[in-house]
Amino acid sequence: MDEKSNNEQFLTGFLIVIVILVTVIYILPTSNYSTASENLNSNRPLKAFILSAYFYPTSKSLGNNSLALVMSMNLGKWKGNYAPVDTVNDTRIVVMARNETTGTVVSTRYERITPHDNCQMVTVFATVQLLPDPVHIALISNEDSTEIKIKIPSPIKRDVVVCISPLYVTEQWQNFLLAAHTYRRFGAHFHVYFVSAVSSFFQLLYEYDIEGYITLQPWDRVLFPFVPGDIADPYQEIEFQSLAGAQTDCLLQYKESAEFVALFDLNDILIPKSASTLLEEFQHILGNQERVSFLSYTRRNHEINVFNNTEFSIGEMVDSLADRNTTKFSKSVVVTKNLNFTSMDRPYFVPEGFVSLDVVDNSIIHLEEIIWIDRNDTKDLKSHSKESNNSSFSYDALSDIETDLDDMLRTERVAQIIPDLPNFFHFYDLTNKCIQESKSNNPKRCPGPQMCGFYQHPNVNCVHVNARHKPMKTLEPITYYFATDVFYSSDIGCYAH
Ligand SMILES: *[C@@H]1O[C@H](CO)[C@@H](O)[C@H](O)[C@H]1NC(C)=O
Ligand SMILES: *[C@@H]1O[C@H](CO)[C@@H](O)[C@H](O)[C@H]1NC(C)=O
Ligand SMILES: *[C@@H]1O[C@H](CO)[C@@H](O)[C@H](O)[C@H]1NC(C)=O
Ligand SMILES: *[C@@H]1O[C@H](CO)[C@@H](O)[C@H](O)[C@H]1NC(C)=O
Ligand SMILES: *[C@@H]1O[C@H](CO)[C@@H](O)[C@H](O)[C@H]1NC(C)=O
Ligand SMILES: *[C@@H]1O[C@H](CO)[C@@H](O)[C@H](O)[C@H]1NC(C)=O
Ligand SMILES: *[C@@H]1O[C@H](CO)[C@@H](O)[C@H](O)[C@H]1NC(C)=O
Ligand SMILES: *[C@@H]1O[C@H](CO)[C@@H](O)[C@H](O)[C@H]1NC(C)=O
Ligand SMILES: *[C@@H]1O[C@H](CO)[C@@H](O)[C@H](O)[C@H]1NC(C)=O
Repeated sequence: MDEKSNNEQFLTGFLIVIVILVTVIYILPTSNYSTASENLNSNRPLKAFILSAYFYPTSKSLGNNSLALVMSMNLGKWKGNYAPVDTVNDTRIVVMARNETTGTVVSTRYERITPHDNCQMVTVFATVQLLPDPVHIALISNEDSTEIKIKIPSPIKRDVVVCISPLYVTEQWQNFLLAAHTYRRFGAHFHVYFVSAVSSFFQLLYEYDIEGYITLQPWDRVLFPFVPGDIADPYQEIEFQSLAGAQTDCLLQYKESAEFVALFDLNDILIPKSASTLLEEFQHILGNQERVSFLSYTRRNHEINVFNNTEFSIGEMVDSLADRNTTKFSKSVVVTKNLNFTSMDRPYFVPEGFVSLDVVDNSIIHLEEIIWIDRNDTKDLKSHSKESNNSSFSYDALSDIETDLDDMLRTERVAQIIPDLPNFFHFYDLTNKCIQESKSNNPKRCPGPQMCGFYQHPNVNCVHVNARHKPMKTLEPITYYFATDVFYSSDIGCYAH
């Protein structure tokens, strides 16, 4: 990659993600960041926060009894340019595993997922093969070891999983209902990463999760207790709530159980065109090509109306879809067995011996702008409502989706939440303002949650993810950190992390 395309990729990724992750308001002066960044200590001791640790008793692509690790490490050097950096570092990760009969120690190098050095915190991936039925797995340092808790990847067979990038300060419940029911109709499982949302919307997500309708995954922040910011600053120096980590986590979680994993934002809607389900469409595009890592779908920008009250209707929402005839950076659908990790939105490198395919016959309906209108204000209605000039929703699909939604809305607990859902936007408009202002700022600055300030509204309460973070004794060559006891709390307002 030359400098220009790196630059473009970073900048575009930067803008795309802001649009989606509903955030907010005024920007701090640029000088605050550059000062912090330039002072980064280049000889700092290595700190690694474990975002994901999956153990695969069987795996076709990683090997049986493999461990896959995704970590956020303080490797970034703030070079102040976009030159490609070495993707493999020589520092080794040493893993020890014991089962009932024996033990093993294996070491491996880690690979960089984050392709640039604009942020001090860099996402990395590592995988090793261990032994059957481990009862204890630890990461070994020179003089000590750190026991880690592993997760077993999802065993439930699924064809397609749609992974939604971490939601923060989100209030777009109408968008959620449209997406959740649409993906269900076309045979995909909906998996949502969660940082924060207005309380009633959180309750809705939580209820959908309990009903088994979606998977809601808390996405806690990276934190190194008592470690000074010049050594590791996971607040100002982390890129988009570890988005690359969340998307890799989703891929790893469904690696053995799903054929395809789509890495989308909440406002990306994909409707199959060449087949009746997403699975069939993806399989149709692949044909008999074996070495494809991922499919790239262009996103067409749309606007859509939602009513300014809780009389929600998917039919009316879809009727107002208007194609803006502009496109945005594409999003990817990963062939799970042919990819081990991904950067934001798509892999930065296609693995050697593999290719990616650009889909030409279909595109994602990207809800670039969602306009809240007052049902009683007909003037409003006229100025915003448009004949849907390009809706890929067939009549049949739409009626199935509406029936399915009605069933959910009738369940007692969901019915109780509906009247409390937001009736007006607070954060959505503020986000747009933030985007406008970001454009005139230095794109090389690390896009951490500090990017937009957060003006809280007295009547808008949020639920936020929280967890326990334990201080760790400094170890050589790497000190490992992780979170435990993840929980949801409603007392800290609406923040991006
Ligand atoms: C992995 O485990 C599965 C299930 O036990 C087995 O069928 C397969 O042969 C194993 N693969 C290898 C390479 O040993
Ligand atoms: C690996 O990273 C460490 C810490 O940043 C650095 O000191 C070392 O030189 C790197 N090794 C290579 C081969 O880049
Ligand atoms: C422990 O691992 C060894 C291989 O290193 C394997 O032969 C043995 O069966 C395993 N023991 C159990 C209890 O799974
Ligand atoms: C769809 O309709 C809107 C408004 O009527 C218009 O601005 C847009 O260009 C149309 N898009 C296409 C692809 O025809
Ligand atoms: C959509 O954009 C293309 C190229 O940008 C243009 O040729 C076409 O006329 C546009 N269509 C509408 C309906 O605006
Ligand atoms: C994924 O990791 C495994 C184990 O390191 C490796 O054998 C395989 O080639 C990797 N797959 C891809 C697509 O990079
Ligand atoms: C929506 O309704 C509320 C109260 O009914 C009102 O305060 C708000 O201005 C309305 N918003 C829009 C965009 O019409
Ligand atoms: C909207 O109009 C309906 C009847 O047309 C009325 O019952 C309702 O109170 C009105 N809502 C608002 C917020 O004005
Ligand atoms: C929608 O767009 C597709 C291609 O983008 C086009 O083939 C189709 O005719 C459009 N449908 C309508 C109703 O405009």
